[in-house]
Amino acid sequence: MSATIIDGKRVAAELRDSVAARTAALSYKPGLTVVLVGEDPASTVYVKSKDRAATAAGIAARTIRLPATTSQADLLAVIAGLNADDSVDGILVQLPLPAHINSRPVLEAIDPAKDVDGFHPVNVGHLHEGRPTLVPCTPLGVMKLLEASGVTLRGARAMVLGRSAIVGKPMAALLTAADATVTIAHSRTRDLAAECRRAEVLVAAVGRPEMVRGDWVADGAIVIDVGINRLADGRLVGDVAYDECAAVAGAITPVPGGVGPMTIACLLENTLTAAEARRRR
Ligand code: GUN
Repeated sequence: MSATIIDGKRVAAELRDSVAARTAALSYKPGLTVVLVGEDPASTVYVKSKDRAATAAGIAARTIRLPATTSQADLLAVIAGLNADDSVDGILVQLPLPAHINSRPVLEAIDPAKDVDGFHPVNVGHLHEGRPTLVPCTPLGVMKLLEASGVTLRGARAMVLGRSAIVGKPMAALLTAADATVTIAHSRTRDLAAECRRAEVLVAAVGRPEMVRGDWVADGAIVIDVGINRLADGRLVGDVAYDECAAVAGAITPVPGGVGPMTIACLLENTLTAAEARRRR
């Protein structure tokens, strides 16, 4: 079997276009503020892409750049100002924060109604109760790719590889809400390969280059690769050994061009969702 390639670039472009069309029909501009502390090179690139994509979708996007030496108290004061600013619908504090800042109280300081990352415990709680809420962008993007693949999630055996707060845990909650039977595997799971082989839907989010091998994948399974890893030779690879797995999977996401573009597109959608919900209150 040779897998169908799930084209995240195309699905993300369609979602960005649909957000732009919905935004253009509003009588106001949704506002998104991204806060970047320090000059982490990867974060600097991500933040620029978020700003550019939001602006193109008709969102009033702004990036607040703070020096790496910013104190926790000063960062909390910036967030309090954004919470109080009615023109701001979405607030995103780019992670990781510098080591002297504790990210937990920072994320908890964001008004849950403006929490377009979906990291606030109130929104995490809603998600795990299966209630509508602002959902973390990457797992939300994975759900949209699964929908695009045409797979039936109801009753399907789904495996989430990785248990992070940003991807693994919310991913498992979304798949559960979609009536899949979900297993979360991680670095301490016994016989990981055999566990993965049972899955009809396999989502890899562990941050280990090409860890999922071809013989971990069931014939015809849907494989979603959330990983983006830079190898010493400069190549960009996922958590999935692509060629080996594409030879057995029914459908698979490439890296790059799979999950990556969905994350930003979902951030735009979350900003619009937050803007509409705030005006309904
Ligand atoms: N850094 C890497 N991924 C993310 C994300 O989804 N949100 C934020 N705020 N920072 C990140």
